[in-house]
Amino acid sequence: MSTRENAAGSLLDIMHASAVIPVIAIDELAHAVPLAKALVAGGIRVLEVTLRTAHGLAAIRAIADAVPGAIVGVGTLTKPEEFAAARDAGAVFGVSPGLTAELIAAARSSGLPLLPGVMTPSEVMVARAAGFLQLKLFPAVPAGGVGMLNAIAGPLPDVTFCPTGGISVETAPAFLACDNVACVGGSWLTPKDAIRAGDWARITALATAASALRKVH
Ligand code: 3PG
Repeated sequence: MSTRENAAGSLLDIMHASAVIPVIAIDELAHAVPLAKALVAGGIRVLEVTLRTAHGLAAIRAIADAVPGAIVGVGTLTKPEEFAAARDAGAVFGVSPGLTAELIAAARSSGLPLLPGVMTPSEVMVARAAGFLQLKLFPAVPAGGVGMLNAIAGPLPDVTFCPTGGISVETAPAFLACDNVACVGGSWLTPKDAIRAGDWARITALATAASALRKVH
């Protein structure tokens, strides 16, 4: 079943489908499918392919068409026109580093479920007022990490986070133990040297270790 057929349910379903969401940057398009297959082989199915390289959209299309079991989303959404393009390429969710009025409008008009980035309580409140209850805390570690998440949970208990930015396999469990965290994001599953070398076995091993991390309830 391709990603298109496997169009995921709600954003919360997607966040619960994987304790770790790899943040992926594709420098060579030919890497996209084998990389995604290596991650899925290790049990990591939810993939965020960023638009921070020129191959982002083509990589999303290639993975959606050729990697059974992958749930592919688009990351680093910063411009409104990227939403429909990513949706049409096969992305079933989107992630942005921050939130603007233009991005709110694009999320609504494209129908692409958006996980917007926030870093302060005021930004959480603005996102929540716009209808976003699932948020990316970004950059998570510079923003205050676990301490920040626990502090936000008091006054703003009705939002759920995917913290991303500075998290590792060693520090992920402390984030996943937070009541208001459903999953974490990170680039540690996709080291550039392993991708360049075509060392897909190493990527699968990193994915296997990440998929062993479980959200603690
Ligand atoms: C990002 O958008 O760059 C992600 O937050 C990944 O951060 P990391 O490289 O620190 O995991």
